Amino acid sequence: GAVSVLSPATVANVVCGFDILGFALNNPTDEFTVSLSDEVGVHIINDDDFNLPTNPEINVSGAALLAMLEECPDVKGFTVISKKVVKPGSGIGSSAASAAGPVVAANILLGNRFSKSDLVRFAMFGEKVASGVKHADNIAPAIYGGVTLIRSIFPLDIISIDAPPLHVTVVHPQIEVRTADARQILKQHVLLKDAIKQWGNIAGLVAGLIQQDYDLIGRSLEDVIIEPVRSILIPGFNEVKQKCKDAGALGGGISGSGPSIFMLSKDAETAKAVEEVMKDVYNRIGLDYQTHLTTIN
Ligand code: HSE
Repeated sequence: GAVSVLSPATVANVVCGFDILGFALNNPTDEFTVSLSDEVGVHIINDDDFNLPTNPEINVSGAALLAMLEECPDVKGFTVISKKVVKPGSGIGSSAASAAGPVVAANILLGNRFSKSDLVRFAMFGEKVASGVKHADNIAPAIYGGVTLIRSIFPLDIISIDAPPLHVTVVHPQIEVRTADARQILKQHVLLKDAIKQWGNIAGLVAGLIQQDYDLIGRSLEDVIIEPVRSILIPGFNEVKQKCKDAGALGGGISGSGPSIFMLSKDAETAKAVEEVMKDVYNRIGLDYQTHLTTIN
């Protein structure tokens, strides 16, 4: 038999929670179909136009499944058919979708022998192939759904955060920002006064989500550490952010390491108005873009 899963795009960081917060989107999604193979190792078949490597050691899905195989002495190998929709380098967790989907499908094939936390652990090997470091803020929400807090990755400690209904508008200006580069430019030291603001916002955001307090969510969507450095890589960033807030968005910022920008809104009409604002800005700048209008899954 074969198992197919849809693996979602995700928004990492959620503005103030660099490397520790993320949420899953209802769309776009990638599709992965996994079956058991009599050949040893992982065999990758690409059924899309992205030309991703098929050598499993340097393929995100392959590296994740190879990590899983090491803990499955009874399994020879897997075949994966990869149908990607989420564009690599867009900032909405393309690599995490590639890492998470296949291990979730393989686990179903194997009778759910692994926990979600185990699956995150395997998928992080795939994420490392893509960005050079292990981080779980896209993978955890891709596997758990909804909003997740990664309190620690060594050892893994993942907490699902209840959230009220939230509409998400994403704009992907068609430039490429490599996560590895976007991490390289970050400062290694943080001022205490900035750290205090940042952890106040993270705590406020988590409390706001749990208490379904939209105003508190909006007030907490502020990043004084990462955004000032990274936003320079994204043409139109400040204008998009300000105009979307003026249009009624609760707030938002860089999705993951960019270049996508996401905005949260309380209702669908506002999310739609926000999409129009994003389109206007990039039409005027003259930069190609793609938008997604969706909800937190
Ligand atoms: N937390 C990561 C970063 C997500 O911002 O670098 C990118 O994949």
